[in-house]
Amino acid sequence: MTASRSVFGFNQDLPFSEACERNKQPILDVLSQWLPAAAKVLEVGSGSGQHAVHICRQLSVQWQPSEQRQNLAGLQRRVDFEGGAALPGRLLRPIPLDVTDPKQWPSGPFQAVFSANTAHIMPSPAVSELLAGSARVLDPGGLLLLYGPFLSGGVHTSASNAAFDAHLRSRDPAMGVRDAAELSVQAAALGLTAVEDLALPANNRVLIFRLDQAVSTKR
Ligand SMILES: C[S@@+](CC[C@H](N)C(=O)[O-])C[C@H]1O[C@@H](n2cnc3c(N)ncnc32)[C@H](O)[C@@H]1O
Repeated sequence: MTASRSVFGFNQDLPFSEACERNKQPILDVLSQWLPAAAKVLEVGSGSGQHAVHICRQLSVQWQPSEQRQNLAGLQRRVDFEGGAALPGRLLRPIPLDVTDPKQWPSGPFQAVFSANTAHIMPSPAVSELLAGSARVLDPGGLLLLYGPFLSGGVHTSASNAAFDAHLRSRDPAMGVRDAAELSVQAAALGLTAVEDLALPANNRVLIFRLDQAVSTKR
């Protein structure tokens, strides 16, 4: 993510990600198929907010963006600049959320939790917290949708993903592309059943989990 660059040709000091611009439409296409109308959605690690804005412009949702406290200011600028009166009731004020701090999770309930390109950045224990926190805040039958590169049964799905994984791990051994099969096992133990694994452009995927009714009614 670059520090500041405007999508509109003038500088509003907004955070900007080229990758987001490329992948926001394929992601929207998936969400438009899976999110119920008027869904309350929690986004974890909203980054530049480009996904949040793009989705809220197209879908009738109530979108709660969030970020780690140290990255919140740029996200807030984008929401102030592109949300507000332009997207009333759809795009909410961003909240601080570090998935590893249970006190920072909003109480919900949400019909969906969405997170893009975060699982390979967070250390594995934080990814487990992302799954556990999602299971806590989702409605019965609610969906967790994770976008990004993932291994399939321990195997990279492309040479470029393998190279990206090696690059991440050389920067920080705690980072790395996660295995969809391992995530599914962890998620299942929390009552989140893997229901779909969709291939998207550039060797990315959307993993979709649904919270079992039995687990969520026990809360
Ligand atoms: C590569 S960026 C992706 C941003 C955006 N979702 C996108 O697709 O462009 C990874 C994001 O994960 C967030 N992140 C990393 N660790 C986190 C944690 N423990 N809790 C919440 N977010 C975290 C970072 O703040 C960052 O915004």
